[in-house]
Amino acid sequence: MNRPTLSASLLSADFMCLDTQLRELSEAGADTLHVDVMDGMFVPNISLGQVVVKSINEKTPLQMDVHLMIEAPERYLREYDFDNVKSLGVHPESTPHLDRALQIIKDMKKETCVALNPSTPLSAIEWELEKIDMVIIMTVNPGFGGQRFMPEMLPKIADLRKIIDGRGFETVIGVDGGVSSENIRIICDSGADYVVAGNYLFHSKNSIKEAVDELWNQLR
Ligand code: DX5
Ligand code: ZN
Repeated sequence: MNRPTLSASLLSADFMCLDTQLRELSEAGADTLHVDVMDGMFVPNISLGQVVVKSINEKTPLQMDVHLMIEAPERYLREYDFDNVKSLGVHPESTPHLDRALQIIKDMKKETCVALNPSTPLSAIEWELEKIDMVIIMTVNPGFGGQRFMPEMLPKIADLRKIIDGRGFETVIGVDGGVSSENIRIICDSGADYVVAGNYLFHSKNSIKEAVDELWNQLR
C-alpha cells in the first residue's frame, strides 16, 4: 500500500518547547504540520492564530496545512499568506460563502482544503469538488485533540473515494481526528491518502519517531 502523507497536528504539542518538537517531528519523518486555528465560536475552544503561524513559518522549513475552525473564515484567509503555508482549510458549516473562500485561497496561490464535520454529508461539496485540492473527513467533532476516532466515518471516506475516482479527479482525501496505529490501516484501506495525527504522536509512551514508525508498520 502507498504510504499516506502524515501531517502532525500541533494542537497536542508542548508550546513551551515548540522548537524542539518541530525538529523531532521533521527528523521522525512527519511530512507536514497541521495547524488548528479555533475561535471559540465555530468550535468550543480557542487555540492559536496567524501570529504563531508566522513564527513557525520563519523558524522551520516544514510546510503547514492550516485548518481554520472559525466563523466566516473568508475574513481571515489573507492573514495566512506565508511561504510555508501549503494549504488553507475551511469548513462549509462555518460560512455561507464556501465558493468565495475557495476563490480567495486560489488567488493566494495556496491549495484549497475543505473539512467536513462528522454530521455534514458529502453533498455539501458536490458542486465545489473541482475547486478543492483536499477534502478532510473529520473523524471527531472538531474542537479538541485527543478524542476518540469515530469508526462510523469509514464508509464516508469510502464513498468520497468512489466519487473522486468516478469523476476522475486527483482530490486528496484527508482524515483528521483520533488517528493512531490501531486505525491507520482501516483508514487508508477505506481510501484516505493524507492523515492528521496529534495526540498519538505527542502523547505516546515512546518518542515521536517511534510513534511514526509504528504507524508505518501498520501499513506493511
Ligand atoms: C480537532 C482538530 C484535529 C486534532 C487532531 O478539532 O482539528 O486536528 O488536533 O488531533 P488528534 O489526533 O489528537 O485527534
Ligand atoms: Zn485539524
